[in-house]
Amino acid sequence: MAEITVNLPQGAYGIHIMPGAIQRIGQLMRNLGMQGMALVVSDENVGALYGAAVLHSLTECGCKAELICVPPGEGSKSLGVAMELYTKAVTMGLDRRSPVIALGGGVVGDLAGFVAATYLRGVPFIQIPTTLLAMVDSSVGGKVAVNHELGKNLIGAFYQPRLVVADLDVLSTLPERELIAGLAEVIKYGAIHDTDFFNYLNRNCAALMKKEEGVLTEVISRCCRSKAWVVEQDEKENNLRMILNFGHTIGHAIEAETDYTGYRHGEAVAVGMYAASLISRELGLCTSQTVEAMREIIQRFSLPLTARECSPERLMTFLKRDKKSVDNVVQWVLIQAPGEVVIERGVNEAVLRSVLEQIT
Ligand code: NAD
Ligand code: GLY
Repeated sequence: MAEITVNLPQGAYGIHIMPGAIQRIGQLMRNLGMQGMALVVSDENVGALYGAAVLHSLTECGCKAELICVPPGEGSKSLGVAMELYTKAVTMGLDRRSPVIALGGGVVGDLAGFVAATYLRGVPFIQIPTTLLAMVDSSVGGKVAVNHELGKNLIGAFYQPRLVVADLDVLSTLPERELIAGLAEVIKYGAIHDTDFFNYLNRNCAALMKKEEGVLTEVISRCCRSKAWVVEQDEKENNLRMILNFGHTIGHAIEAETDYTGYRHGEAVAVGMYAASLISRELGLCTSQTVEAMREIIQRFSLPLTARECSPERLMTFLKRDKKSVDNVVQWVLIQAPGEVVIERGVNEAVLRSVLEQIT
């Protein structure tokens, strides 16, 4: 069991990591003074598995809660689905003090968070992440969004949750491919600023793949601590927070080019991290040893290094639209050594093309 606090000027919030945590959600909310009503948003897979347990815990603590399930998958991160959730909130009479609770992976967290941020100009938001990726990354830090057909996460806000509850037990039903995809974001934390963690992951790969409770608790809490450390210094991504986008620039382009169906988000990020190391070597920022270290860890966790279905040309088109561009120049997070990254404005087009050819 672990508890981590994220301290921000508008208030602090806790991340509770433990087996069986969803049975305590009602109590944890009551401790924060939240009772009344709640809208629980989930997807059809997760809602069927854990919706009843969450509703039970909330009802036991005097909360009048309703569950709404959206179809699983990236397609639900849309303004159309958000509109259905607003309608549900209005018809059930959700008021300004009533929380929206996200029960699911990053898709549900981003969607429900976007609705919480905008319904009645903002209602309390609670995250119950159910994928590894959501536990270590998307449920912490307040980025919420839906997609636009021209790009991912283009419509969103920074809106922090009031509480994050990560129940290790729910990982027992998580498909292996989803667990592995989440491990890409885990590797990212080691790569961007924690060499010791990078080495820990290399040593504990087998235990992690077997979902051993002690290693999972250690890994999730280290990632959440890292994320909290970054977000506390730069909540709105003016500088330091950009390092969390390591691997995401090319990763997002791969996801968009494959219509958000070819690759899990984490898989695309793994290819993106490897590509970023190749770019870094081309630019003289790192040695071949660093590229090898990235290649080895990505392969050790059965993650992909290439996206053969993609074309360099089309990836270039998506890269030019990257939402992290400033004055149309993409902000790249590049690697110097495992645990050390640097932000570079723009990358020479010939270098980029040559790396895109290697990974496609
Ligand atoms: P996801 O939400 O699509 O979930 C993956 C699949 O696993 C779904 O089919 C879901 O139904 C199923 N599932 C989830 N938990 C389960 C469980 N415990 N048991 C059985 N099945 C379960 O995928 P994800 O990888 O969690 O999230 C990806 C999304 O997160 C992307 O949209 C990405 O942009 C976003 N993201 C956001 C941030 C952020 O900071 N806001 C960070 C990283 C990623
Ligand atoms: N996942 C990137 C961020 O939260 O900033």
